[in-house]
Amino acid sequence: MKPEISDFTFYNPVKILFGRNKIEQLDKHIPSDKKVLILYGGGSVKRFGTLDRVKQALSHETVGEFGGIEANPTFETCMQAVELIKEEGYDYLLAVGGGSVIDGVKFIAAAAEFDGNPSDIFGKGVGAGKPVQSALPFGTILTLPATGTEMNETSVISFKEMKAKVSFSSWEVFPKFSILEPELTYTLPKRQLANGITDSFIHILEQYLTYPVGGKVQDEFAEGLLRILIEIGPDVVDESKLDYNLRANFMWTATLALNRLLSRGVPGDWSTHALGHEITVLNNTDHARTLSAIMPAVMTVRKLKKWDKLVQYAEKVWGILDGTEEEKIDAAILKTIIFFKSIDMPVNLSEVNVQEEDIDTLVSQLEAHGNDSISERGDQTLDVSREIYRTAL
Ligand code: NZQ
Ligand code: ZN
Repeated sequence: MKPEISDFTFYNPVKILFGRNKIEQLDKHIPSDKKVLILYGGGSVKRFGTLDRVKQALSHETVGEFGGIEANPTFETCMQAVELIKEEGYDYLLAVGGGSVIDGVKFIAAAAEFDGNPSDIFGKGVGAGKPVQSALPFGTILTLPATGTEMNETSVISFKEMKAKVSFSSWEVFPKFSILEPELTYTLPKRQLANGITDSFIHILEQYLTYPVGGKVQDEFAEGLLRILIEIGPDVVDESKLDYNLRANFMWTATLALNRLLSRGVPGDWSTHALGHEITVLNNTDHARTLSAIMPAVMTVRKLKKWDKLVQYAEKVWGILDGTEEEKIDAAILKTIIFFKSIDMPVNLSEVNVQEEDIDTLVSQLEAHGNDSISERGDQTLDVSREIYRTAL
């Protein structure tokens, strides 16, 4: 039977406030009777004046602060914020930071209202995977375009003791609004800019590089966004080319890459993320750096499974029109590697400090987290994942 676009529901209620001086309009978007808790990360928002702007913009009677949400936010740190919320009675949260702060706040918002042990919000070997029934309302101010979390319903949390990095999704944790000021990206170091380009690039690929079902809208959107990242990526990471439109295009692309527009009705394959998360758990490598180290091996090992889409990727994204189908695929894989290298991203495991002797641990962690039959067809077994790790060495 001819593959079809599957039935879907698309729902995305996040109000996006995009452009200059949006923080100054913050007050209009948070009800005036709320007791607001501002949450942030390791201090960049203090250093670069964003927190001061936020505090000045709010006229609410009580505004509290919780700092210290770390990159790859942990359950343990987030639970301290939950305690503070319960003790002091905050009823609106405001996340100011990158994906880690926003993901942390999504979990905190759900945990503050959760009946039972909040680790049960997660499945995948960590908890009972109970549905989130309600969450505190929150808004976000994004300082790092990368994850798309500012416009989706997912949160990724790390458990220090359990050595796990797992996600949950719920419509209850869509932000009420997200402020996207491209100028907030001006203070990002080159490494984080490259991470952001790469994370968004891989998000698009994981929703696209599967098998064709005739989803023209999804495919064309994905191909367009990929071409934009290829075009602007090297300039975004080149600080001498700092430019408003460049950063605005980067920011909006990263958001659209994972607000579910690309994934509805078509298959998805989040195996690069699954394999990458285990590397972060192992040695704390930045999220995006695990992805660029793994993706070329996924393309190589899964070539036959992804054949048609790889040919399409070669032709429509890279403009490779000459040669046999296999030559086009191989050229596209090479172009992908060259692209990552051009923005100083790792393209193999040794560049992210993973050696052959670590592979057993990575594979057993995949198993512990229920990732033994992943990919678009669920046929990526632990043996296939092992082969991908080996190929990526
Ligand atoms: O902590 P501070 O001091 O704020 O510094 C951060 C952090 O050190 C810094 N930074 C952020 N904005 C800055 C800035 N430095 C200077 N100027 C700015 N404007 O950048 C560092 C990294 O921040 P982080 O938030 O960790 O990065 P990112 O946005 O890449 O988020 C990564 C997390 O998101 C998860 C990842 O797994 C990882 O935990 N993801 C979430 C997803 C989702 N919810 O849908 C999907 C993604 O695939 C991803 O898994
Ligand atoms: Zn990601």
